[in-house]
Order: sequence, then C-alpha cells, then structure tokens
Amino acid sequence: MTKPVILTGDRTTGPLHIGHYAGSLANRLAYQDSHEQFLLLADTQALTDNAHNPEKVRRSVMEVALDYLAVGIDPTRTTICLQSHLPALAELSMLYLNFVTVSRLERNPTIKDEIRTRGFGRDIPAGFLCYPAAQAADITAFKATVVPVGDDQAPLIEQTNEIVRRINSTANRKVLPEAVAVIPKAGRLPGIDGKAKMSKSGGNAIPLSASPDQISAAVKAMFTDPNHLRVEDPGQVEGNVVFAYLDAFDEDKNAVEELTAKYQRGGLGDGVVKKRLDGILQELLAPIRTRRAQLSKDPAYVLDVIRKGTEIARDRTNATKREVVEHLGLFRL
Ligand code: TRP
Repeated sequence: MTKPVILTGDRTTGPLHIGHYAGSLANRLAYQDSHEQFLLLADTQALTDNAHNPEKVRRSVMEVALDYLAVGIDPTRTTICLQSHLPALAELSMLYLNFVTVSRLERNPTIKDEIRTRGFGRDIPAGFLCYPAAQAADITAFKATVVPVGDDQAPLIEQTNEIVRRINSTANRKVLPEAVAVIPKAGRLPGIDGKAKMSKSGGNAIPLSASPDQISAAVKAMFTDPNHLRVEDPGQVEGNVVFAYLDAFDEDKNAVEELTAKYQRGGLGDGVVKKRLDGILQELLAPIRTRRAQLSKDPAYVLDVIRKGTEIARDRTNATKREVVEHLGLFRL
C-alpha cells in the first residue's frame, strides 16, 4: 500500500513560533510514519510580500529548516525541500493562472485579510494576489491529498480544489487529486497581546527558539482580562491569552478546567495561572532550543538535508508537470 501524500510548508520570513507548533507542526510530527510527507520551504511565496527584502527571505530558509529539525521532523521520514529550486512549481503556477479569475483571487478571504493587514492599498504585488494559484501548484505537484495547516489556510486549499476540478474537467480525466486541509480543533493561537494572530512580524509571538527569559517575559506581558483587578474578582477567560495557551499546551485538561472555573468564579490571580503557563512553555521549548543550538553549529548538515530533499522533490514535481501538460493536450515536441 502506498501511503497518502502530505505537502505543507511555511513562508521563509523568519523563525517559526509556538503558534506554528500548535497550528501545524504538531500535526506534521504525528504524520511522519503514516504518510509520505513533504515540507516546503516557501521562499518564492515569501517574496510575494517581501520583494523589497530578499535578504530576509534568504536568511530565513535556514531558520525555518532548523525549526523543523529541532521540533523533531526527521529528514529520513519527511522530505524537506526548497520552493525556488523546484521549477515545476513555477511552470504549473503559470498554467493554473489560466484556470482562475482575478475576481476569484480577490474574493479569497485569506488574501483579502492579508491585503488589509499588510496595508497594500491599491499597490498589491501581482505575485501576491496570485499566490493561491502558486500554492495550488505546490500542493498538486506532489499529488498531496492531506495538507496540515492553520485555519487561515483553509480558503487556499478550497481554491486549490477548484483549480484541480477545472484542470480535471478540461483534461477529461482525473489528472490531479483534491486535497483535504487538516486543521487543529483548538483553533488559532492569539498573539501575546491578545490580537487574533500571532505573527513573526507583529512582535507578539514566542519563537520556538526563545530563551528561558524571553519566554518568562512574554508570559508576564500576556494580555489577560483587563477588568480582573483583584484576585477575588471574577475573571473572564474569553479573549484571555493565558487561558488560550493553557488550552493549547497544558496536557492536564482536568486541571485547566478547574483553573478556568475558579478564575471565572473569582479567587484566582493572574500570577498563579501565568506561573503555570510559564512552566509548561519552558518544558515544551527547552528540548527544542537545545536541539536547535546543536544543529545550528552544523549548517553543512542542514544544507545537505535541504539539498537532498529538493532533489527528490524535483523528480516528483517534474513528473506531475509533464502529466498535466500532456493531459491538457498541449503541443509536444
Ligand atoms: N501559505 C503558507 C504560509 O503562509 C505557506 C505555504 C506555501 C503552504 N505553499 C504551501 C502551506 C502549500 C501549505 C501547502 O506559511
């Protein structure tokens, strides 16, 4: 039996943070044996909103690769590959752009949201608007059927499947499979400031490589319930970042339930809950930090992992591109 294929990836715009861990890295770790897994270092997609800063995009390739390896992605079971060195992805993107309209791209909720938060106004880079077609190329080039991602990526998988259906109907056969997004039940982790999204650029994230002091400082600064002034006061857990993180990372669900009830009743101070969270995050990140520090002393090894993975991915994606071109019935020389 061949295993189902997973393709996911991350824009290389900076080191990954605990939001990535809760959002998709944990799922990717769990799938290493049951699936054939590819992880894409998405540097060309990173360029769609960082064209002014290719240096950052380049530097972040190693950072993200280090994060993958540090959390336990095993390169003998998962193939790590570099987007810009897979020409079939670019070629498929160009083809797919003919199977999607500008208005559909503009209606994609993720794109709409990102255009707003990036403040592009009317100056939207064409590559940015069109990256859903490129992401469809990423996913389909590997014939992936499973895509573990954060909830913000769901509209991109939906749009991928629309393109897949158009290609298949034009080719009059099932050239490409549709994909399913695997999204964690817990939902998205807010930033430490309470903003809806933890982001590398927003200064509200805890990187996987954070030092013990950085972790403690972030927990101290965390947004809680601004009306919970005295310990005896009833507190609110909705929108309370500390409780959101406990829900995501505390394995003792009963304890979290009790703490939640007590906080809501009144009689539980922020300091106590923060202390618990601090301990949990320290424990989660300590082994990751150690491993990351070891690996970063051996960049040649990390480079080798990326090189070998990209080679494997190149064959795979070229084969799919040839099939798509053939079945669309284009001229062959
Ligand atoms: N869009 C993803 C992000 O913002 C990165 C990405 C690129 C991706 N290609 C992908 C995710 C394919 C899943 C599948 O980080």
